[in-house]
Amino acid sequence: MNKTEQLREKTQQALQGGGAKRIEAQHKKGKLSARERLQLLLDEGSFEEIGMLVTHRCRDFGMENEVYPGDGVITGYGTVNGRLIYVYSQDFTVFGGSLSETHAEKIVKIMDLAMQNGAPVVGLNDSGGARIQEGVVSLGGYADIFYRNVQASGVVPQISAILGPCAGGAVYSPAITDFILMTENTSYMFVTGPNVVKTVTHENVTSEELGGAHTHASRSGVTHFACANEVACINTIKDLLSYIPQNCEEDAPRYAYDAADEIRPALNNIIPENPNQPYDIKDVITELADTDSFLEVHKEYAENIVVGFARIGGRSIGIVANQPAYLAGVLDINSSRKGARFVRFCDAFNIPLLVLVDVPGFLPGTDQEWNGIIVNGAKLLYALSEATVPKVTVITRKAYGGAYDVMNSKHIGADLNYAWPTAEIAVMGAKGAAEIIFKKEIAESADPAAKLKEKETEYTDKFANPYGAAARGYVDEVILPQDTRTKLIRGFRMLENKVAKMPKRKHGNIPL
Ligand code: HXC
Repeated sequence: MNKTEQLREKTQQALQGGGAKRIEAQHKKGKLSARERLQLLLDEGSFEEIGMLVTHRCRDFGMENEVYPGDGVITGYGTVNGRLIYVYSQDFTVFGGSLSETHAEKIVKIMDLAMQNGAPVVGLNDSGGARIQEGVVSLGGYADIFYRNVQASGVVPQISAILGPCAGGAVYSPAITDFILMTENTSYMFVTGPNVVKTVTHENVTSEELGGAHTHASRSGVTHFACANEVACINTIKDLLSYIPQNCEEDAPRYAYDAADEIRPALNNIIPENPNQPYDIKDVITELADTDSFLEVHKEYAENIVVGFARIGGRSIGIVANQPAYLAGVLDINSSRKGARFVRFCDAFNIPLLVLVDVPGFLPGTDQEWNGIIVNGAKLLYALSEATVPKVTVITRKAYGGAYDVMNSKHIGADLNYAWPTAEIAVMGAKGAAEIIFKKEIAESADPAAKLKEKETEYTDKFANPYGAAARGYVDEVILPQDTRTKLIRGFRMLENKVAKMPKRKHGNIPL
């Protein structure tokens, strides 16, 4: 065996987790090894490793005795369903996957290649953060990665899977990337762990409560996907990649599409008789999208808005939809932030947008006002106004107040605006409107309740329909629900070559 072969064998052993015992320990925790993860992610035989023989330089704190080729991270490139990606996979069994100077250099190298060659970066994270023995060089290594995450933002898609404890610096690179996926019960993300929390704030909290998948999927919104296990997580990454292009200058892959009867009669009966009754907007999405093509993003977070990818006529489309089945589909701080972030991703990567509107307005209350619904609601308004991809709107029912403007109205640049006959487009609900504008008349009436009812009906008759908006061209067409899919297939095809000119500037100033 020559020297290279010896090192390669040593590398294989080290990166397999420093031996069978360590891999077994990973398995016992419900985790896979760093290489097993890569095998699941990449097309068979496609992986090319870069930097296999890199070792750390630190010689302090006993580090001279433990030198592992590869230094706790496997980096390289390969293909997913035939499409190039760059990838790194951290190995928790080597110094807890902690990030050393050289570990960082390896990640930086593949990020630079990804930018140069225009392909996504997928990070499989499993790391205890900055390598404590190395001091400032590991902090510098993190900053080198963060800087590249920012440079790459909007240029190539960046996806982060969290597959173990990720503490300290290990959470900030994922935070800058486009999508975060976590596994239930085996992954955590926190800036400071439970012990520090206890010392500083005297709170008793478990790792799971503080930064587990469920917490970040439903409370903080930090993760976009909470997956049952690592296999499900890696399959979701592959699925996600199928909707997005390789870089900002390309389009998402087009899938084969057999034109069939696109009429969807089920949609005609989806809106309840009573306008205050909820229905599930996901039932509408299922009818509009190609079979089984909807991939929901941020499923458990701010459920009053639904966002996700689907294919319509084989094209990848980003969907943003109010959800009447949750908080009546009202817009609040979290749903506005969620929607805005998704819109900006789609816009950056040439994915057309479909906006489904059934919104009673913005959520009132001190909690919302004091926490900044003004600037947070403005994020969604800003993101949709700024987006230059093809934008199509369908108003299924309510489009009230400022939320009418925000939800991809014609006025903020939507290309096609459709409304169902059940649409209600007005400044506010009929009762509230009647109470304000006929206040005096109602008060002076012999029967105020009857007067209010009469005025409410008057307002409803005038505004609780889409025809006023259609007469002004704010709505392009009032369509039967059953025809919506046909209109969308044709509309997105018509908008395929859209070119939008933006004013010259360095960058806008979205109200962050
Ligand atoms: C060096 C580390 C390490 C680290 C873990 N290890 N974290 N080595 N630097 N940051 C080593 C352990 O010594 C141990 O080595 C092995 O990895 C496994 O760790 P365990 O603690 O046994 O595992 P577990 O019980 O699963 O706990 C995992 C953990 C915990 C929650 C991640 O290890 C931990 O709290 N680590 C420190 C986290 C941290 O404070 N990181 C620095 C954050 S500051 P042996 O040889 O015994 O197997 C930071 C600054 C960047 O990141 C800021 C940029 C914005």
